Amino acid sequence: MEANERIIVALDFDDRETALSLVDKLGDLATRYKVGYRLLTSVGFEVLDELVQRGKWVFCDMKLHDIPATVAGAVRNLAARRVGSISLHVSGGSNMLKAAVQSIQNFAHRPQLWGVTVLTSLDDVSVQNELLVSVSAQDLAIHLARIASFCGCDGVVASGNEIERIKESCGEDFIVVVPGVRPSWTEQHDQKRVVTPSEAIKRGADFLVIGRAVTEAGDPVSAFLQIAEEIASVTK
Ligand code: C5P
Repeated sequence: MEANERIIVALDFDDRETALSLVDKLGDLATRYKVGYRLLTSVGFEVLDELVQRGKWVFCDMKLHDIPATVAGAVRNLAARRVGSISLHVSGGSNMLKAAVQSIQNFAHRPQLWGVTVLTSLDDVSVQNELLVSVSAQDLAIHLARIASFCGCDGVVASGNEIERIKESCGEDFIVVVPGVRPSWTEQHDQKRVVTPSEAIKRGADFLVIGRAVTEAGDPVSAFLQIAEEIASVTK
């Protein structure tokens, strides 16, 4: 895979024009985009179609979590829009995950299903005191990644620090998608445990979700290119 294809640009905007103008600016350089709650709740699901029509591969970051039949229906509906991947919470349980996997089994265009393990906004204290889970947030994340893999999901979204353990437990082919990536030349913003693009790729990440390092750059094309070059330097 080319370095630019490992980058998923997060379209964290509130309006369609700004989002699509970035897509136009990046042109053929960026092939993959992430669309999440922020853009979807503001402009609606049609933006997925617009990106697909422009030939883009879209990660629909819905973090689905509901009873199996409801999640299966939502996955089918999103698959019909020809998105490339959909996220769902592994904590929704194995029946939910299996129903989601099964719901698109016979689709000619089958999106990948990526599990969300433990939100990075939760730490050991919240996992132990609020969820009453007695292991660390990281051990819980690895456990949930194994469940996702067992149920037939294609991969998980994980922090840069968990990549090696997930690959060890779930196999090299199990996809690991890493957000919270910061090239050394940008700000950390509100992300706490950041990794650089080269670090994440060296540790085994398949895709990097990159938001503000590109979307808020004075020159997004050059920011994207620099990140792609950094990735290429460790994959060659
Ligand atoms: O701007 P930045 O690169 O921090 O954006 C990262 C993107 O990845 C955002 O869309 C954010 O919602 C998402 N994300 C994250 N951390 C997670 C899961 C998703 O930052 N654990």
